[in-house]
Amino acid sequence: MTHPTPAPAPGPSRRAVVSALGALPLAGAVGPALTAAPARAAEAALPLPVAHWAFDEGAGTTAADSSGRGRALTLAEGARWGAAKSGAAALDLSAGGSASAAGAVVDTSGSFSVAAWVRLTAVAGYQTFVSVDGLAVSGFYLQLRDDTGVFAFTRLPLDATSANGGAAVAGAACAPVTGAWYHLLGVDDAAAGVLRLYVNGVLEGEVPYSGGWRATGATAVGRGLFGGAHVDQTHGLIDDVQVFDTALTAADAAALAGVPAGSTEPLLTVDTTRPGPRLSAELGGIFFEDINHSGEGGLYAELVNNRSFMAAATPLHWSATGGAVLAVDPGQPLNHALTQSLRVTAKAAGDGVANEGFWGIPVRPSTAYRAGLYAKSADSTGTLTVALTGSDGTVHASGTAGPLTGSWRKYTLTLRTAPGAPTTADARLTLTASTPGTLWLSQVSLFPPTYKGRANGLRVDLMEKLAALQPKFLRFPGGNYLEGNVVADRFDWKKTIGPVEQRPGHRNSAWGYWSTDGLGLPEYLQMTEDLGCLPLLCVYAGYSLQGAHVTGDALKPFVQDALDQIEYITGPATSPWGARRAADGHPKPFPLKYVEIGNEDGFDRSGSYEERYAAFHDAIKARFPALRLIATTPVSSRPYDLIDEHYYQSPAAFQAGSHKYDQRDRDSPKVFVGEWAAQEGRPTPDLNAALGDASWLAGLIRNSDQVLMESYAPLFSHVRDNTWATNLIAYDALTSYNSPSYYAQQLLLTHRGDVVLPTAVRALPGLNVVTTHDPRTRRVHLAVVNTTGTARRTTVTLRGVARTAPSAVVTVLAGPGTQATNTLTDPLAVAPRTGTVNGVAPTFTATFAPYSVTVLEVRTG
Ligand code: AHR
Repeated sequence: MTHPTPAPAPGPSRRAVVSALGALPLAGAVGPALTAAPARAAEAALPLPVAHWAFDEGAGTTAADSSGRGRALTLAEGARWGAAKSGAAALDLSAGGSASAAGAVVDTSGSFSVAAWVRLTAVAGYQTFVSVDGLAVSGFYLQLRDDTGVFAFTRLPLDATSANGGAAVAGAACAPVTGAWYHLLGVDDAAAGVLRLYVNGVLEGEVPYSGGWRATGATAVGRGLFGGAHVDQTHGLIDDVQVFDTALTAADAAALAGVPAGSTEPLLTVDTTRPGPRLSAELGGIFFEDINHSGEGGLYAELVNNRSFMAAATPLHWSATGGAVLAVDPGQPLNHALTQSLRVTAKAAGDGVANEGFWGIPVRPSTAYRAGLYAKSADSTGTLTVALTGSDGTVHASGTAGPLTGSWRKYTLTLRTAPGAPTTADARLTLTASTPGTLWLSQVSLFPPTYKGRANGLRVDLMEKLAALQPKFLRFPGGNYLEGNVVADRFDWKKTIGPVEQRPGHRNSAWGYWSTDGLGLPEYLQMTEDLGCLPLLCVYAGYSLQGAHVTGDALKPFVQDALDQIEYITGPATSPWGARRAADGHPKPFPLKYVEIGNEDGFDRSGSYEERYAAFHDAIKARFPALRLIATTPVSSRPYDLIDEHYYQSPAAFQAGSHKYDQRDRDSPKVFVGEWAAQEGRPTPDLNAALGDASWLAGLIRNSDQVLMESYAPLFSHVRDNTWATNLIAYDALTSYNSPSYYAQQLLLTHRGDVVLPTAVRALPGLNVVTTHDPRTRRVHLAVVNTTGTARRTTVTLRGVARTAPSAVVTVLAGPGTQATNTLTDPLAVAPRTGTVNGVAPTFTATFAPYSVTVLEVRTG
């Protein structure tokens, strides 16, 4: 997108009115073409500035204040004179420097406005054009921001660097380019409690702000103050800076910028004549790692907690029933992998054990559960009653395992609940001995029906939620889970294949619980097939979270592990590791296109990633040249196909960050935004976060030639283990729900075309937009995120479209306020609604509801 230049609006005959999903009453057709008010008329009414530097001197080190108040600026440190926007000269800071006057020229605790012309020679980094110093930070910043890439008028709530997180940022609608003059006007309207930013006379940013405080330090042009230091050097020209002790109006803004007032009305223009990039085929994916009991007690459908008794030296999650005595017994291993078992000493018939599951075991009517266990008894006698038992002792389903013998035997049985059984998570799995004596248990397992009926499979409701996102890839198995706190706790894939009772499991030290590795490499791969998406494999690359890093010869086995892992996934069934995959039930190779080397290796302070990446790169490219490699932090000695960038930020930062990739150097390495999420809401994001997420995602889609793939993180949280606060989907033992952010992403990613269409927004602060086109169906998908509490009504023009169908499908996700959210008990409080709107035309008027994500699907031609 570019900052729009004023254009005449089309005539009235082709105009119509649409109110998105009837969220607001339909208004009458808007009037004829926007009329251009003469700029000079508005200019005449402008308030007088309290400081005005025209920078017309062209020589010397002083810039006079033409307001008559005598606040001359002194040029310092390389500040020069350059070519003017208006008058004879401008302040040239392209070689550094700034200009300042002692003391504040305006009282920043009340209403005020600051205007400047700027022309940049670089668009990177923070650059502040006008500011007044406080003690630690500036009282305001009229600036270009590095985090968002756009112009902004910014204020912090306090004169403290630590207050930066609460900054109010009125940001521009799109990123600037070098070499063009922009007129910026920042307005602090203390009476209305808002900050506004006008660019070229057009209102582009508007945010609430009521924390006005008085900055009393120097007034500076060309820099700001942060952490008590001079920062934010401007690179470029600044001209005609004016400061007012009042909140200027929209008409003032137009007059100052020299544009007709009528040309600053809201307008949304989609240009179908200049199609932008094609959407990457792999743009929307999912990232799964076992965090917050996402796998164990979550997606992995196993209902027994600590089924293998390997989690600890005590029988965690198990309890004795009757008078039984329990002990974890390392002296009676099931096999080389499960080196501990549970010894149960039954003092009487009816004594036994119970497993509490993952915060309860879910029971439903008319359901068949598959139970399995290994057992043996000291005296080769007796049986076990295996039952789903309510906390009040009600038996919901039961069966018998036995007779037990003196050596390990596997017993499998089906537990069926009756049609009248309750739906409850208030149950346990109980195993009751028929006779007194000592017995041992191992690998005690219970599965409900699974997604697609897979043995050792996945939870149905959670997989259905993932499938409804239509993901293009699955990034797995982490994240920090891949790395472990120490090398021994990494995801050691070779221990996650084969029969589940031969997988030892490992400590999930990153997230604080035991992993049975029942959800292992074969299950992840099956999951991709069941979701119809590509696997995106993250290989352990010799770095663990507490800083251990493996280099030199010691790294070679890890590189070999990665090669073997790729062969397990892609090799023919005749290859050594392909044969292991076939033995695990999947003779056909899986398609693999992307391999990520490690995770967040920028945290490796030793700097060893350069060497580690090179070792993996060389080995993988030599053996599997077609694979595309993803680096987790930039490296210089070897190429990478993509760089994985992770962003966890505030909703405001994401709302403002929609333009981050707009001005990216198109020749730099392509990006995989492998983890991102606006951090607000627990265990799932609220609507405010969803609006941030939708704004950010709109930016990723717009820049799909740069950002080839993206995945939100984390995906899941059990409501009883919310270690990581904000997650896409949450659940308890029985039910689950989608967050507002889930719905926002689903909306943007599943209602889209193949080609991005350039879209300009004018005077629509807080709106982030992406438009795509499906040439096959001739549908234009206009996605609009309104992050503000104000309904935004605008003319929409589809440039280059002669005809449209008169009605369009519209889907809206909205809520009553930023804190609105979904919960287990109110899962659809914020959910999309779909309807039809009439009166669509090549130019029409639409209203976008407060706090909403809207996708309008318009049929053209
Ligand atoms: O998504 C949660 C964690 O955040 C991931 O494990 C890690 O990669 C990142 O730091």
